[in-house]
Amino acid sequence: MIDKIKELIAEAEAFKAQTKEEVEAFRIKYLGKKGLLNEYFAEFKNVANDQKKEFGQAINTLKNTAQDKVNALKAELENASDNSTSNLDLSRPGEPITIGSRHPISIVKNQIIDIFSNIGFNVSEGPEIEDDWHNFTALNLPEYHPARDMQDTFFIQTNPDILLRTHTSSVQVRYMENNPPPIRTISPGRVYRNEAISARSHCFFHQVEGLYIDKDVSFADLKQTLQYFTTELFGKAKIRLRPSYFPFTEPSAEVDVYWGLETETDYKITKGTGWLEIGGCGMVDPNVLTNCGIDAEEYSGFAFGVGIDRIAMLLHQISDIRLLSENDVRFLEQFKSAL
Ligand code: PHE
Repeated sequence: MIDKIKELIAEAEAFKAQTKEEVEAFRIKYLGKKGLLNEYFAEFKNVANDQKKEFGQAINTLKNTAQDKVNALKAELENASDNSTSNLDLSRPGEPITIGSRHPISIVKNQIIDIFSNIGFNVSEGPEIEDDWHNFTALNLPEYHPARDMQDTFFIQTNPDILLRTHTSSVQVRYMENNPPPIRTISPGRVYRNEAISARSHCFFHQVEGLYIDKDVSFADLKQTLQYFTTELFGKAKIRLRPSYFPFTEPSAEVDVYWGLETETDYKITKGTGWLEIGGCGMVDPNVLTNCGIDAEEYSGFAFGVGIDRIAMLLHQISDIRLLSENDVRFLEQFKSAL
């Protein structure tokens, strides 16, 4: 009988299984209630005394061997089902990964930031929800100043001191309050105006405003800076400064770039003139410097503000400003190859 048990031990050791079912059948055969081991244990009392020891050891070995085998095979099959490669079809084509694209507003904004950082301007940002002081009063627009009407402001109804900024000049005020001259900074950001929405204008849009404050800054510096900027951005150098009015600059001008009239979009965006009005500029009014704690006797400076949306529309031939905020994937996808 002992020889038979030794045979079974060797058999159990050599046993291999492919499936859990085979392991279970093995377990039942050896370790189950009516399994071989229980049979041998029941046999124990019939074994001659002098053989009991050897017999006992043999069935214990068989039991341990079978139990170890079951445990080992179970663990092996568990692992295999976790990272089994047997069901994978390695010849299947991969799932396409959709890659996002940068928004045309961001593309143009980043280009403008690059152009100005090359001549030493840093980037400053501020809140879109502003107070009256930073959006108006500090900029030489006291309460009841008629020029406040130029900017159709969204006010918070319960608190007329709080509004959605109408320009990023508010960031320049914050910057001057917190940084001594010399100052060279640009402030990109979203601004809001209560305007009727059409293909050409929206109730929110984007600006980059620039500010340069130092000793002896002149209008010629302003003009050269704008000339440099437009040449870098558009590759076209022809600009035009039209006398204008802003409460926070004196003298003030409107900046136009000659773009041309090659496409229908050019016609639409330039209203058929070929000239694109990109923004306003001027020498910072001494009152503004004083309001912001800068000595207007010692320092002078220039400021300008350009609209990003219209520039993006021209550079990327987008004929309707509303496309920029509708988040239509078919539109946005087209900018994948841009920056
Ligand atoms: N803040 C002005 C606007 O939004 C633009 C501007 C900026 C004009 C700086 C002059 C100087 O209309």
